[in-house]
Amino acid sequence: MKKFVFGNWKMNMLRRDIEEWKDKFFTELEKGLNEKVSVCIFVPFTHLIIAKEIFKNTDVEIGAQNMFFEEKGAFTGEISPLHLVDIGVKNVIIGHSERRKIFKEDDEMLSKKLKKAIELSFKPVFCIGETLDERESGKTEEVLERQLREGLKLLNSEEIKKIIIAYEPVWAIGTGRVATPEQAVSAHRFIIEFLNKNYDVNIPILYGGSIKPENFDSLVKNPEISGGLVGGASLKGDSFAKLVKIALNYIS
Ligand code: 13P
Repeated sequence: MKKFVFGNWKMNMLRRDIEEWKDKFFTELEKGLNEKVSVCIFVPFTHLIIAKEIFKNTDVEIGAQNMFFEEKGAFTGEISPLHLVDIGVKNVIIGHSERRKIFKEDDEMLSKKLKKAIELSFKPVFCIGETLDERESGKTEEVLERQLREGLKLLNSEEIKKIIIAYEPVWAIGTGRVATPEQAVSAHRFIIEFLNKNYDVNIPILYGGSIKPENFDSLVKNPEISGGLVGGASLKGDSFAKLVKIALNYIS
C-alpha cells in the first residue's frame, strides 16, 4: 500500500528557509524518494511559485493550504482555484481545523470547496477531527460522521475516490499531545467503514496532530493509517525526511 507524508507549513517559511529546507531534506533522505511514498508540502499562497521553482525536477509536490469555491468575481482577498490551476498547483487542503475555527468555515462552505476542487481536477486533502470537548463527551464518531456527510454531500462515489481524508483531532494539533495509536486507529476504522458503507469507496486516510519522528512509526505502521499530515515537524527538512524514511518501511 502507498503511504503519504504531507507537510503543512501553515503561515511559516520564507524564501531562504525553503532553500535550506530542501538541502537538509535531500541530505537526510540519501537515496531520494520512492514512488510509493507520496510527498507534498502545502505552502503559503505567495510562495507557491517560489516553492515550485525550488523543487522543480524533484518528486516533492507543492500544494496550497486553501482556496475559494468561486472561480472569479468580487471576493477581495480570496484566492480562486483558477489562480492555482494557472500556476500548476493541483494539491489543496480543504477544511483544516484552523480554517474552520479561526476563519469560521463551516460544513456548507467546505462542501462547495470540495465540489469545485473535484470539478477542476484538484487532489484535495479534506480535514476532519473532533475537539477535546467533543471527545471527552463521547461525541467523536458523531462529529466525524457529520463532517464527512456534510462535507461530501455534493459529490458522488466516483468523485469521492479522488479525495484524501486527513483525520486531525483538534486537541492534538500543535499541542504536543499526539493521539495514541489506538485512538488514531479507532477513528480511522470508523472513517473507513463509514466511507465504505455509504459510498463504497476506499480512500487514503492520513493522521495529523503532533507527529514527530519519535512517534510516527507507531502510527504509520498500521494499515488503517495511510500516512501523516504534519505541521511543526514539517518545518525542518531533516525531520521531515526522517518521517519519509519511516513511512518507507511500511510500503508494500
Ligand atoms: P502539528 O503537527 O504541528 O500538530 O500540526 C498538525 C496539522 O495541523 C497539520 O495540518
